[in-house]
Amino acid sequence: MKITVVGAGAVGATCADNIARKELANELVLLDIKEGFAEGKAQDMMQTAALLGFDTRISGSTNDYTKTANSDVVVITSGLPRKPGMTREELIGTNAGIVKGVCENILKYSPNAIIIVISNPMDTMTYLALQSTGIPKNRIIGMGGTLDSARFKYQLSTTLYCSPADLNALVVGGHGDTTMIPLIKHATWNSIPVTQFLSSEQQEKIIADTMVGGATLTKLLGTSAWYAPGAAGAALVESIVRDEKKLFTCCVSLNGEYGQSDICLGVPVVIGKNGWEKIVDMELSADEQAAFNKSADAVRSMNDVLKTL
Ligand code: 2OP
Repeated sequence: MKITVVGAGAVGATCADNIARKELANELVLLDIKEGFAEGKAQDMMQTAALLGFDTRISGSTNDYTKTANSDVVVITSGLPRKPGMTREELIGTNAGIVKGVCENILKYSPNAIIIVISNPMDTMTYLALQSTGIPKNRIIGMGGTLDSARFKYQLSTTLYCSPADLNALVVGGHGDTTMIPLIKHATWNSIPVTQFLSSEQQEKIIADTMVGGATLTKLLGTSAWYAPGAAGAALVESIVRDEKKLFTCCVSLNGEYGQSDICLGVPVVIGKNGWEKIVDMELSADEQAAFNKSADAVRSMNDVLKTL
């Protein structure tokens, strides 16, 4: 198994670190455009192998895509991160060109790779990856909802004083501060609806805090977060390489599912060795479906910006 992570910044390096610690591949390539940067991070990570006991071989490359040849899975984290006060959407102009170029280069040497998109604005970058490469839709997965669902579980766990691992909770829709939809009515604490334990004020606060989860961290850190985004990317890689068939919210191409077409948006999917293998049809209330449609409208107008670039 060979995995490539494009972009050796904080998100890419954290994702690679998780992949190595879990031994999801025998070969892991970290690639970056900054001279020597990926090589340095790879070497630093390799020096943890004796301490952590993993056997994944990590190498770094400065923009040499021949080193990524025959990768089974590629995680794209390239592009500018958010600065405090910036929305993910403001990154579109710069990141669209970067993501398009990365996809072309990757597929030249790994034509069968499954691609996981983390770069922002994630929904539009996933759509761009699908449109520009024309590869089968099941091989392009946007990571956003996996991260947002983990953040939702974090917010729920701090209010319920419970283990985040005991929670089932999904965020669907876009990966924007105003487009994501934490589905609190469907969330459970080991099968018990969380709404049994939360006042409406608490529920509203959990939803609001989840939606600005990324922005809150950007403000605190001065740049966008990396531990949870990197771990979310690695969790998807794990479900692919171990063919776990885990259910995650991911941004995938919709063709009529959830009433939407010609768009990539976050919905529950099964992730296995073929990429996203199945969209799980979840019954949404009228309010939830209306929120989903509104989210789709916002993402679609962002996708329209691609035509003007
Ligand atoms: C975030 O929400 C990186 O978009 C990512 O932190």
